[in-house]
Amino acid sequence: MKFEEPTGESLPPRPSNLSKVFEVARDTVIFLVLSCYYILESLFLTLVPNAIRPMKSLKGDVVVVTGGAGGVGRQLALQLARLGAKVVVWDISSEGLKKTCADVTDEGYEIASYVVDLADREAVYATAERVKNEVGKVDMLINNAGTVFGQTLLELSDAAIETTYKVNILSHYWTVKAFLPDMISSGKGHIVTVGSVAGLLGTYRCTDYSGTKFATVGFHEALFTELRAHGHSSIHATLVCPYYINTGMFDGVTPRLMPMLEPQYVAATMIESVRKNEVNCIMPGSVRYLLPLKCLLPAKMCWDLMHRVMKGPQSMMEFKGKRKVAGG
Ligand SMILES: NC(=O)c1ccc[n+]([C@@H]2O[C@H](COP(=O)([O-])OP(=O)(O)OC[C@H]3O[C@@H](n4cnc5c(N)ncnc54)[C@H](O)[C@@H]3O)[C@@H](O)[C@H]2O)c1
Repeated sequence: MKFEEPTGESLPPRPSNLSKVFEVARDTVIFLVLSCYYILESLFLTLVPNAIRPMKSLKGDVVVVTGGAGGVGRQLALQLARLGAKVVVWDISSEGLKKTCADVTDEGYEIASYVVDLADREAVYATAERVKNEVGKVDMLINNAGTVFGQTLLELSDAAIETTYKVNILSHYWTVKAFLPDMISSGKGHIVTVGSVAGLLGTYRCTDYSGTKFATVGFHEALFTELRAHGHSSIHATLVCPYYINTGMFDGVTPRLMPMLEPQYVAATMIESVRKNEVNCIMPGSVRYLLPLKCLLPAKMCWDLMHRVMKGPQSMMEFKGKRKVAGG
């Protein structure tokens, strides 16, 4: 996606002030008319049950799922295989990958797995090449792998902070750079970015984790604009921001008002959203209505809501998390 620099000779004549005003007025009117259509379309699609709504088929599609050795990734692998996708799972944990592959093949489906440390850029590029040669062109990339240390800024080692950034966000650059060109040349593709509610709302003991998850939001939104601005409207991008999930990643945390989500539910909701080509998928949906409050309410009130009512920081104080594997 490179811009052609206009040469001096090919520059169009400068428009007069009057024609500039006319152009802005014309574009605003077009925008308002289209907005009515978009709002009606969105209302209609919200009301139509999924059962009678056209959903994208994933049959035969090659789907790479990073972090496929457990949690949400394993559920994604299983559920995508049941829909007929050719699933390729990546993870640093070879034991976890074996279990995912066994679960999928036990149900009679095929799956390919690759052990790779996503914190190692060259290993990511090399593994992407192997997938292209051994499995074929990738139609969908789900950047799902993630890691969390659950420590305060002063407790976090420099190496831990770097690992969180390498796994949770930098790896997205390497995987997308590896697979997007083929999607563009075939005119078909989907990039799924797994963020978090902690990437929409700064979370206690998560300066590194929240920082990287906020970055996933920026990454997704900016990539979306690049794809649209360059006319690649058949390449879709979906950002997934779930609340706490019961996978062990945040073991010990006991949220006060909402129970943790189950990985089966998160994977199913994510796949549904992808099959509808949705741009954003926040779960549970109710979080969407709470988030604007952080910009609208006074900061002291937001803190009191988080601390007194939701007991967010207090629940993160119980964080135990998972035993860490090398690099992740
Ligand atoms: N668990 C939650 O509460 C929660 C909430 C919101 C978002 N998320 C996000 O959802 C995604 C899936 O999380 P999960 O709950 O299934 O966690 P999980 O720990 O069960 O799975 C994450 C996977 O990423 C893999 N991984 C970690 N470091 C790696 C590395 N260096 N190279 C390769 N693989 C590596 C792990 O081995 C693991 O299999 C993550 O991006 C996470 O940040 C999780």
